[in-house]
Amino acid sequence: MAKLLVLTLVGLGLKLFRDPQSSYETRLNAFREVKPVELPNCNFIKEIEDGSEDLEILPNGLVFISAGLKYAGFKYFDTNKPGKILLVDMNEEDPTVLELRIIGNTFNLSSFNPHGISTFTDEDNTVYLMVVNHPDLQSTVELFKFQEEKSLLHLKTIRHKLLPNLNDIVAVGPEHFYATNDHYFVNLYLKFWERYLGLAWSYIVYYSPNEVKVVADGFDFANGINLSPDGKYIYIAEMLSHKIRVYEKHANWTLTLLKSIVLNTLVDNISVDPVTGDLWVACHPDGMKIFHYDAKKPLPSEVLRIENILTEEPKVTLVYAENGTVLQGSTVASQYKGKLLIGTVFHKALYCKL
Ligand SMILES: *[C@@H]1O[C@H](CO)[C@@H](O)[C@H](O)[C@H]1NC(C)=O
Ligand SMILES: *[C@@H]1O[C@H](CO)[C@@H](O)[C@H](O)[C@H]1NC(C)=O
Ligand SMILES: *[C@@H]1O[C@H](CO)[C@@H](O)[C@H](O)[C@H]1NC(C)=O
Ligand SMILES: *[C@@H]1O[C@H](CO)[C@@H](O)[C@H](O)[C@H]1NC(C)=O
Repeated sequence: MAKLLVLTLVGLGLKLFRDPQSSYETRLNAFREVKPVELPNCNFIKEIEDGSEDLEILPNGLVFISAGLKYAGFKYFDTNKPGKILLVDMNEEDPTVLELRIIGNTFNLSSFNPHGISTFTDEDNTVYLMVVNHPDLQSTVELFKFQEEKSLLHLKTIRHKLLPNLNDIVAVGPEHFYATNDHYFVNLYLKFWERYLGLAWSYIVYYSPNEVKVVADGFDFANGINLSPDGKYIYIAEMLSHKIRVYEKHANWTLTLLKSIVLNTLVDNISVDPVTGDLWVACHPDGMKIFHYDAKKPLPSEVLRIENILTEEPKVTLVYAENGTVLQGSTVASQYKGKLLIGTVFHKALYCKL
């Protein structure tokens, strides 16, 4: 309620003292041109046509992909079909796609709308998959167990008042995770004003069955979140301020901000190379095209690699950039044995040799 009042006052204040439209365009990095950076040997993964929003590669090369996201304000092609989780094997020369069967009578398949995903592997090598879901535009986390016969057994649905606008998730235990809320308000109209005015009320939550708490806030659209290979640091993409924030994670699960890296693009998902610790970040060079879709102006794609992020001088390399003629709206990129897999909000998935 207090924030609603503040939103109204801030809105009036901004109208008087500065032009929210120009600040909005700066935050969206609107109209930036993309100079192409190509990779040799790229192919589409056949059969992926309606999004590959998030993906996670297991150490054995199996990849979980969430597909068919319908997110208010973003474009999506097939409005009737529910979303799904796909499985791809990076060891195959020309990977084929398997749709994972979802088992369990506790889950409503027809409203499945998967967004960010994350896996957790326990000491017995059981793989758990956590999926941010938006059934009827709400936010839940669905917990699944991956079964050898290539199915997902639904274990439970997690809802919490501190998880109203979930975007991405990173698992730190079988039922323990950090998650990003990309907005404070749930109401679509208030969300728009929150984003338009740049109020930076988006926040990060730690969840476990015993304790749920806000561990970081003040984000201008918190998006992708991931963990360093040693589990000591958390990386969060703050999309509309074009930043990757680096946090130290403490034993009591609180986070302390160590630094931020500012990039000239809207940062979406972060995947972390389990061996080198490098960050692979998929980005939207021009946010105007993602929040205000126009079929005549395709969304460009961009992938960055960040090496030595914890040092004084991290190395940032633009690995792939394309104006949307080939691949529209990259959201995630992940590397496995010299092959890069790039996913998108609502378009295809591209697979390149590095
Ligand atoms: C499952 O989701 C659909 C689509 O949102 C909805 O119409 C239906 O009532 C839901 N079924 C149950 C059992 O909740
Ligand atoms: C990838 O980006 C999407 C879109 O914002 C987000 O919901 C998803 O959780 C992200 N995944 C990762 C691995 O960061
Ligand atoms: C959590 O741990 C950190 C580092 O040890 C400490 O600074 C902080 O006060 C602790 N917070 C709480 C709420 O216990
Ligand atoms: C995108 O790039 C391609 C190849 O560089 C070029 O042929 C095409 O005209 C460009 N399209 C747009 C919309 O800029």
